[in-house]
Amino acid sequence: MKEEEKLIVRRIKEGTVIDHISPGSSLNVLKVLGITGEEGMTVALVMNVPSRKMGKKDIVKIEGRELTQDQVDKIALISPDATINIVRDYRVVEKRKVSVPEVIRGIIRCPNPMCITNQQREAVIPTFRRISDSPLVLRCEYCGAILERKDILDQFR
Ligand code: CTP
Ligand code: ZN
Repeated sequence: MKEEEKLIVRRIKEGTVIDHISPGSSLNVLKVLGITGEEGMTVALVMNVPSRKMGKKDIVKIEGRELTQDQVDKIALISPDATINIVRDYRVVEKRKVSVPEVIRGIIRCPNPMCITNQQREAVIPTFRRISDSPLVLRCEYCGAILERKDILDQFR
């Protein structure tokens, strides 16, 4: 572990460490995961620490929760280089990359104001299909509108 990080937040005993998050994006990572802090588990956020690979990075540590690949894949929408570390008894027992799921439901809005998912009277959950990974391109299941990564990032500003 890098010295800088060690000074900021200790290693966890059990849970999930989301590492190599794009610098400054850790609050959005929590948002995407639906973690508000009201759940009660211990969560540590580390922002803008030096990283050899990335220059700077964010880290999120969630104690006592092993997030599934499904849950964390949504993170790839905003932070494609994130790594997921599952920790048991202080050891990293599993290390995985995130990848954008084929279908994304309910996290991002359709940019088309006329889309049925943007009509208040209709309770239609915005749903997108991944049509390209790199560069990232998503298409609305309902109106065909196209979203790129910058459109997604804009929604989290
Ligand atoms: N970590 C933690 N608690 C533990 C074990 C690891 O908080 N009990 C954190 C580390 O601080 C690091 C991440 O989980 O942020 C990954 O740990 P590790 O695989 O040991 O670090 P690296 O080898 O540097 O990871 P990578 O090769 O993915 O950069
Ligand atoms: Zn749409």
